[in-house]
Amino acid sequence: MILVKSADEIALMAEAGRIVAETLEELKGEAAPGVSTIELERLAEGLMVKKGGKPAFKGYRGYPASICASVNDQVVHGIPSERKLKDGDILSIDLGVYYKGYYGDAALTVAVGSASAEALRLMRVTEESLWLGIAQAVEGNRVSDISNAVQRHVEANGFSVVRTFVGHGIGRQLHEEPQVPNFGPPGKGARLARGMALAIEPMVNAGGWRVNVLDDGWTAVTADRSLSAHYEHTVIVTDGEPKILTKLTK
Ligand code: MF3
Ligand code: CO
Repeated sequence: MILVKSADEIALMAEAGRIVAETLEELKGEAAPGVSTIELERLAEGLMVKKGGKPAFKGYRGYPASICASVNDQVVHGIPSERKLKDGDILSIDLGVYYKGYYGDAALTVAVGSASAEALRLMRVTEESLWLGIAQAVEGNRVSDISNAVQRHVEANGFSVVRTFVGHGIGRQLHEEPQVPNFGPPGKGARLARGMALAIEPMVNAGGWRVNVLDDGWTAVTADRSLSAHYEHTVIVTDGEPKILTKLTK
């Protein structure tokens, strides 16, 4: 069952989302050559707690950290480590916050120093596909209208969408119904209604869509070792423009 959130619940989710957005914004500014991903982890955890949130990922199904830090061919769920970022890397940062009973979840990819033109294009197309997916998150549409919008844009640009991991409903749980794949024909799946909360999260590979999970049980890498990017927002379905909870409103 897809839960519909009340105005009070949406207000709390917006608080969780704001903590996610502010923390991601600060991390983005810290991702530089020579910085290790465990340093970003410590910074993130401190910021989330200072803002009154609880890191949502730590302990989730045994995940050992507060953020996912996925470098280059790592798609998602990279575990922060002593690995130092290098000039030209791309880093996907995914983080979730639990606040007063509700979750917020978002991700972005950042270029470390000067990334290649192809890496920047991958990042741009992935973020664009997220916005095209979000634009379909309106009352009356179906879940796979989001999926199809993402896939079409990605493939029109010569990249591929990851099939193994999907977006999701979100609220009192980090993962709720429905699943939100980033591929598939339009017009399928549940009909969207106002008040539904979705985490839409395209993961896009420069090469083929296949991924493998490393021996650590978490880190997903592209099977062909091509670069991968990941963007995610938590949004509320309305009868008009979707309400984006994890974007900074200045
Ligand atoms: N954004 C990802 C998701 O919603 C992050 C989950 S990582 C985990 O699935 F560690 F919490 F599993
Ligand atoms: Co998510």
